[in-house]
Amino acid sequence: MKRRREQARRGPEGAALEVTVERILPGGVGLAHAEGRTVLVGLSAPGDRLRVRVERERGKTLLASLVEVLEPSPARVEPPCPYFGRCGGCDFQQLSYGAQLEAKAEIIRDCLRRVGRLDPPAEIRVTPSPAEWRYRSRARWQHDARRGALGYYERGSHRVCDVAECPVAAPAVQSRLTHLRESLRAGTLPEDLHEFEAVEGDGGVALRPPLAPADDAEQQRVIGGERYRFDAGCFFQINHALLEPLVRAGLGDAAGGRALDLYCGVGLFTLPLARRFAQVTGVEGHPAAATYAWRNLTEAGLTNATVETSAVGDWLTARAGALPPVDFLLLDPPRTGAEPEALSAIISLRPARVSYVSCDPATLARDLHALTAEGGYRIASLEAFDMFPQTHHVETVVHLASAN
Ligand SMILES: C[S@@+](CC[C@H](N)C(=O)[O-])C[C@H]1O[C@@H](n2cnc3c(N)ncnc32)[C@H](O)[C@@H]1O
Repeated sequence: MKRRREQARRGPEGAALEVTVERILPGGVGLAHAEGRTVLVGLSAPGDRLRVRVERERGKTLLASLVEVLEPSPARVEPPCPYFGRCGGCDFQQLSYGAQLEAKAEIIRDCLRRVGRLDPPAEIRVTPSPAEWRYRSRARWQHDARRGALGYYERGSHRVCDVAECPVAAPAVQSRLTHLRESLRAGTLPEDLHEFEAVEGDGGVALRPPLAPADDAEQQRVIGGERYRFDAGCFFQINHALLEPLVRAGLGDAAGGRALDLYCGVGLFTLPLARRFAQVTGVEGHPAAATYAWRNLTEAGLTNATVETSAVGDWLTARAGALPPVDFLLLDPPRTGAEPEALSAIISLRPARVSYVSCDPATLARDLHALTAEGGYRIASLEAFDMFPQTHHVETVVHLASAN
């Protein structure tokens, strides 16, 4: 009794609780309830009975960490990575692959309902990744010269987790990490380089900043018959085995006169759109990516498409009322979603059909709310792709049609 009173005075931080995880929420954390409070606990599985430690109080919610699995959920598996739990890279290795896919469908459903205030489709299919491991063709590594550490940030911190083997990195990317670590041990890795970005293509792995002449080489990948060139500095999707179905889903059966491809990167969707539409415009804010998009179109002989280097919101706002009618608009924004002015401009432009490709169900749902409530669109189809196995992240493609 006395201990409880003291605990109440100090606040709940540090308290031990026993909870049962009900389901996985957006962000990948498990939802539980104890002592009339909502408890969120990471690295858990639905159905787990856990002993947890309260780390922080946020309003009425307790954020807790896992101390002990008292009774494992049938969905729980042994995470194979020795860094799991400490490394900030993966947060779903404790779930069987089937449970990961179910949790991702549930996350999308939850975001549509709670953030988008929309009725989710009766069934949400998440296409599995052909490879559950060794699928990542892109990686960002942190270097702490003082501690001699090279790897990913630790969970919820900017301390570097020293990682020798990453089981989700593609073999060539892992091999580049191993070489970098050899330089670190040999004392030849420059101390003032704190971050490296690696990307794999058909010709090997490019590294930014480069350490050897081969690191600077641009890479290329052929997807759905189109050749895309890129380098480590610009965005290119990480799970190449799923790109053909993703592009197919993004385009659907769209074809016609004029298409816009917003946040187009190096042109993943712009090239196939240019094969189906008379006139295509891609808009991309990163100058190097936009230059690659131009090059990729030119090398494919696609002269009916242009690429504008600009923030999408600025580009659309500057052309308000002046753009010709658009038959099909595809947008694939970063995790933060579309800029508010981009959404307003899309709503004013009234393209006949919209395809929204998203790597964040919460910002997708937020933007879908605007497009449906203010723009008069309805969800015509929704499907998802497991581009990021072993993490809570998921790619979603939503087609919108005019509700009238
Ligand atoms: C998720 S990626 C999609 C790229 C491309 N559609 C693909 O699948 O390869 C988002 C892209 O948007 C670009 N970007 C981010 N913010 C932007 C903005 N405000 N305006 C234009 N492009 C932006 C990034 O540089 C990146 O290339």
